[in-house]
Amino acid sequence: MSGRVIDGAAIAAGLVARLAGEVSADLAAGHAAPGLAVVLVGNDPASRVYVRAKGRRAVEAGFRSIEHVLPEDTAEADLLALVARLNADPEVDGILVQLPLPRHIAAAAVIAAIDPAKDVDGFHPVNVGRLSIGEDALVPCTPMGAMMLLRSVRRDLAGLEAVVIGRSNIVGKPMAQLLIAADCTVTVAHSRSRDLPAICRRADILVAAVGRPEMVRGDWIRPGALVIDVGINRLPGSDGKGRLVGDVHFGEALAVAGAVTPVPGGAGPMTIACLLANTLKAARARRGQRFDPLATDA
Ligand code: GUN
Repeated sequence: MSGRVIDGAAIAAGLVARLAGEVSADLAAGHAAPGLAVVLVGNDPASRVYVRAKGRRAVEAGFRSIEHVLPEDTAEADLLALVARLNADPEVDGILVQLPLPRHIAAAAVIAAIDPAKDVDGFHPVNVGRLSIGEDALVPCTPMGAMMLLRSVRRDLAGLEAVVIGRSNIVGKPMAQLLIAADCTVTVAHSRSRDLPAICRRADILVAAVGRPEMVRGDWIRPGALVIDVGINRLPGSDGKGRLVGDVHFGEALAVAGAVTPVPGGAGPMTIACLLANTLKAARARRGQRFDPLATDA
């Protein structure tokens, strides 16, 4: 048996095109384009690449992108003051502070300072809490994208066994909440779990978000399972640039799974598309209109 490759790049492009259409309709109705403020502190090369990509995709889709790049030695108080200004700025609908932050800044304090209505990362305790009790929330982008990819293969996930490997606040925990909301039976496994391969073999849905290159092997996967690989790991290569791989051994997974996301081109492109979806949702909510990205997915 050979599984299907879930084309995250194409599904993300479709979502961005739909969002661009929604923004055009808003402009035609006399509203401003949604404004996304992205804050980067320091010089982490991977973060710089992500932040640049977020700004570029936002502008391409008709959003306004506001970038703040602050030096590595920025004081926490100065970052909090910037967040307060962005909270108060009527032109800003969404605020994202790129993580990780330098060690002298408490990320939890910065996240808590963001207005929950502008928290397009969905990391603020108010949004985390709302998601967990089934109320309308801004939902973290990577798990939201993973749900859309699952639903592109199978709309009704009720009753399925789902295993999430990884318990981070950014991916693992919100992913588990979304799967519970979709009526799955959810197990959250992690580095201390006993017999991880046996846990994974139970899964109709397997989401890997651990950051360990190609850790999930073919014999960990139940035949026909849906596999979402959130990992992005760079392996050293002879060309000096290296090779991107996920947390799942793609070739082995494809031979066993019903469907699997590739790396790159799977879960990754969905994350920025979902960030834009959250920014449009936040902009609409601020003028009393609803936009539910998970209800309008592919
Ligand atoms: N760093 C890695 N992923 C993310 C993300 O989704 N949001 C933010 N703010 N920082 C990140």
